[in-house]
Amino acid sequence: MAAKADQQGSLRWGVVGTGWISSMVVPDLVSCPNVSVELIYSRDITKAQAFASGVSGARATNDYEQLLADPVVDIVYIATPISTHYELALQALSAGKHVLIEKPMAQTASEVEELFRTAGEKNLFLMEGMWTKFNPAFIRMTQEIASGTIGEPRSCRGMFGIPLPEENRSRWDVRLSGSTLLDQGIYPVTLGHVIFGPPDSVHAVGTVRPDGLDLAEHFTLEYSDGRFAQCATSMKEFADLSGAVNGTKGWIELPGPFWSTTSLRIHAGSWQNIIHDPTQVDLPREGNGYIPMLRAVSDAVRAGLVEHPVHSARDTIMVFRTLDQIQQAIGACR
Ligand SMILES: NC(=O)c1ccc[n+]([C@@H]2O[C@H](COP(=O)([O-])OP(=O)(O)OC[C@H]3O[C@@H](n4cnc5c(N)ncnc54)[C@H](OP(=O)(O)O)[C@@H]3O)[C@@H](O)[C@H]2O)c1
Repeated sequence: MAAKADQQGSLRWGVVGTGWISSMVVPDLVSCPNVSVELIYSRDITKAQAFASGVSGARATNDYEQLLADPVVDIVYIATPISTHYELALQALSAGKHVLIEKPMAQTASEVEELFRTAGEKNLFLMEGMWTKFNPAFIRMTQEIASGTIGEPRSCRGMFGIPLPEENRSRWDVRLSGSTLLDQGIYPVTLGHVIFGPPDSVHAVGTVRPDGLDLAEHFTLEYSDGRFAQCATSMKEFADLSGAVNGTKGWIELPGPFWSTTSLRIHAGSWQNIIHDPTQVDLPREGNGYIPMLRAVSDAVRAGLVEHPVHSARDTIMVFRTLDQIQQAIGACR
């Protein structure tokens, strides 16, 4: 049975990968209560040492097995290219570590199912780092919908198109992180699932490179009674970064980037409010925006949970089944 925390109740993290996302998440991690970052892993020891030198008390290693064997590490945060997630997570779970994996958790639903099966067998916590679902503005949106502010939700929209720089090599390599759907499109798919659940059918059209890397796609998640989630994602052109949820009594705008928005514009109530004067709700970001998720994960592990109710195993698997369907429809390679 894995440790829930040390005797002082502090949860001890190991970090895998020293790229941009680690440089955003680790400062948020160390600002969480009862959390310590103990060990930084990079394939390159000088990078691990340079990263660790900026984190109070952290050691460095370029030996993944050493990280996994370290009794002082309770939980591993995996922040490497997408195609490496499954193997690195499987090894960490097999070594008895709890795991938080950057989004997307893996490449296919079957990989995700296998990871949750392993975590369940070993009674270990496992979650995908879907920070959007822990974001205060996103939570407020779900609360407004649940309380009937916009009536019955009928459709939603999520877009994430940004031309990615050529020097961001792993994004352009189909063997590593390449796939605009997995890297960016997972956010609009998650929005559709949060509002309506898994779709009854999926309609998708995309641009796929000859090697199978999907560069851009638009897709609709379709539900009974005409409800739908309309989504677009691209790594070669802009598709505005906003989102919206539309209902029978009004709508909520999620200003871009919708997956980490810090405000909502609620078009509901009088016609004046609906058309001209929506209610603006501002919910500022904590740190770099990852603190609410990291706090929730740390609390869940300390409480002995094996999955988080806000982003459960079932939620994650269902999103990946939709991603599988989209990839299949557009002919992307996985
Ligand atoms: N939640 C968010 O806001 C957010 C934002 C951006 C990205 N992400 C996600 O974070 C993950 C990493 O994205 P990224 O842009 O940071 O990727 P990246 O820069 O290509 O890689 C991150 C780190 O992984 C390590 N790495 C690179 N290639 C590797 C390989 N073949 N095997 C093992 N490790 C390797 C490298 O660290 P070392 O050289 O130190 O080994 C690299 O710095 C992706 O899943 C991405 O979707 C999330």
